[in-house]
Amino acid sequence: ENEPLILGIETSCDETGVGIVRGQTLLADAIASSVEEHARFGGVVPEVASRAHLEAMVPTIRRACETAGIKPSDVDAVAVTSGPGLAGALLVGVAAAKGLALALDKPLYGVNHLAAHVAVDTLEHGDIPRGCVAMLVSGGHSSLLAVEDLTEGVLPMGSTIDDAAGEAFDKVARVLGLPFPGGPYVDKAARDGGDRLYVKFPRGLTSQRDLERHRFDFSFSGLKTAVARWVEARRRDGEDVPVNHVAAAFQEAVCDVLTRKAIDACKDRGYEHLLIGGGVAANSRLRVMAEERCAEAGIAVRVPRPGLCTDNGAMVAALGSELVRAGKSPSPLGLPADSSMPI
Ligand code: KG4
Ligand code: ZN
Repeated sequence: ENEPLILGIETSCDETGVGIVRGQTLLADAIASSVEEHARFGGVVPEVASRAHLEAMVPTIRRACETAGIKPSDVDAVAVTSGPGLAGALLVGVAAAKGLALALDKPLYGVNHLAAHVAVDTLEHGDIPRGCVAMLVSGGHSSLLAVEDLTEGVLPMGSTIDDAAGEAFDKVARVLGLPFPGGPYVDKAARDGGDRLYVKFPRGLTSQRDLERHRFDFSFSGLKTAVARWVEARRRDGEDVPVNHVAAAFQEAVCDVLTRKAIDACKDRGYEHLLIGGGVAANSRLRVMAEERCAEAGIAVRVPRPGLCTDNGAMVAALGSELVRAGKSPSPLGLPADSSMPI
């Protein structure tokens, strides 16, 4: 094949990811996670993450090259997440990418982490349609983005004004006594006979008044508090907490708001495609609800497989590949890490 060979590096949070892509074909997606090291703190500790990236970087690059059956010198361009994310963590990836690009004398592409979450879907479903809303829901972000042309960037429509969707899952999991990171456990508890209508938890920023100012924004902190209060009241009364039902009812509230606002965003832009990414896109209820509601609204849904939805290097390589294929110019070798890059 004469498509360009791209190596992508991701270190914005707690995953050290190195992906290798040729054109829109995934050749390797090596990942090392420090999630276990953060588990006892109940959240990601930036200092711990940076150190773990530094230790994992070279072995992960080696592993990706081995899996893809390539030598580093075969690479046509190096892509790296330059933001947004944890400053120290980003710096490790950016420094590694610069070193590699300099040593190999190949172009460097700094990419936006959120745009990369969108680009990863090219590896599974081909070109991103012109005119698509992307909903990114993870432990770090909950955003609605308008995507006209992915290689020109993404346009933020709204985001969370407090907790991210995944953060809400993780906090509610803790209240329910489930392990960290809690999303998959809440999902599983809900599937194991949870009654999603058991309690009606609040839907943040959906009142007429809130919609005027925050039509495409999310708020999950009130929901999390409502669940915590409900559980505490039960315990105070000496009653058992029906974990499966609470998990299902909480999950229903999150998915209801996410899908409603995503579809409203598509209608607002006149787009017929919705792409869902980020760790929470793995949620089984979100997938079903999005399919059902989008089908009714005449919107096609694209969700990459769960392994590609969470942070990884393949998504960065995928976006790098789209930029190279579109003939975009590379970043300067002085590329800074920008932790608060506009999203
Ligand atoms: O994208 P990701 O791996 O990392 C970032 O936060 O950027 O997302 C992790 C988040 C965690 O909050 C985790 O609890 C959540 O995604 N998550 C889920 C599910 N799987 C992962 N949330 C709900 N349902 C799931 N099945
Ligand atoms: Zn992410």
